[in-house]
Amino acid sequence: MPSLDFHDGVNKGVAPVTYGTGSRPPRGDYAKARADYTCEQAYAQYTEADHATYRRLYSRQLQQLPGLACDEFISAVQQLGTPEHIPHFDDVSERLLKATGWQIVGVPGLIPEEAFFALLAARKFPVTDWIRKPEEFDYVVEPDVFHDLFGHVPLLFNPVFADYMQAYGAGGMKASRLDAAELLARLYWYTVEFGIIATPQGLRAYGAGILSSAGELRHSVTSMQAERVAFDLQRLMRSRYKIDSYQATYFVIDSFDQLFEATAPDFTPVYRQVRDRIAVEGEIEAGAVLVGERRFSVSLPARG
Ligand SMILES: [Fe+2]
Repeated sequence: MPSLDFHDGVNKGVAPVTYGTGSRPPRGDYAKARADYTCEQAYAQYTEADHATYRRLYSRQLQQLPGLACDEFISAVQQLGTPEHIPHFDDVSERLLKATGWQIVGVPGLIPEEAFFALLAARKFPVTDWIRKPEEFDYVVEPDVFHDLFGHVPLLFNPVFADYMQAYGAGGMKASRLDAAELLARLYWYTVEFGIIATPQGLRAYGAGILSSAGELRHSVTSMQAERVAFDLQRLMRSRYKIDSYQATYFVIDSFDQLFEATAPDFTPVYRQVRDRIAVEGEIEAGAVLVGERRFSVSLPARG
């Protein structure tokens, strides 16, 4: 199993922390998992404190969405059901299946890449079944049920994004064979987790890591401290990312169609070209901007 590789807070892209494996044992009860790492959602084990944590997290994020989250996310977030308690995965799956043919499945926590890719390729999104402790309210190291559900599931109701996620899983199964998982992990990181989309109303977040974060949602869309550059697949795959702070660079797509189409071709030659370029020019540091690169400026909220 790959280990995380830290360098001044910048991940060299060795392992995707969003779904990969770390150097310590993952949190969660893996004894209950099936061979494909899925498990029943142990709903009766949630305590009233667990539901309260979900309710507070949901409420805090919901208030922040207008003007910062993309419309597709905002219009679908109610599909998670009542914010009063942790949803039953089966209920969400029922609605999701009707909308885009996806389902959510419970998992005990982080799962190996191969298992993760296989589930996505089968239009099944793994959702961690435990929720953070109250003392982890502002920050939890590993994804929990709130991150996985609130951050990821609403956009799975969007047909184009749903297809992108399935294609990503299929590509991941292939990338493992090509020893290119780290390059593909960067694509996941900079789109599914930390993606920004340009809309006529301004920049908006669509990445789950942003949308489930109390602080990064505003930072990603409005902070002058971050760079926002146009989505470019090979540039993105050469770019390191931050794992222990807000991102220094965000990649901006024009539409989900653009994202799907840019990533639809076979990546085999892409991986080769990216590796060749890295061998000559090195990787791109988080926060760096290249000469001639299209950058997006933030539109600051009007002062009242
Ligand atoms: Fe995630």
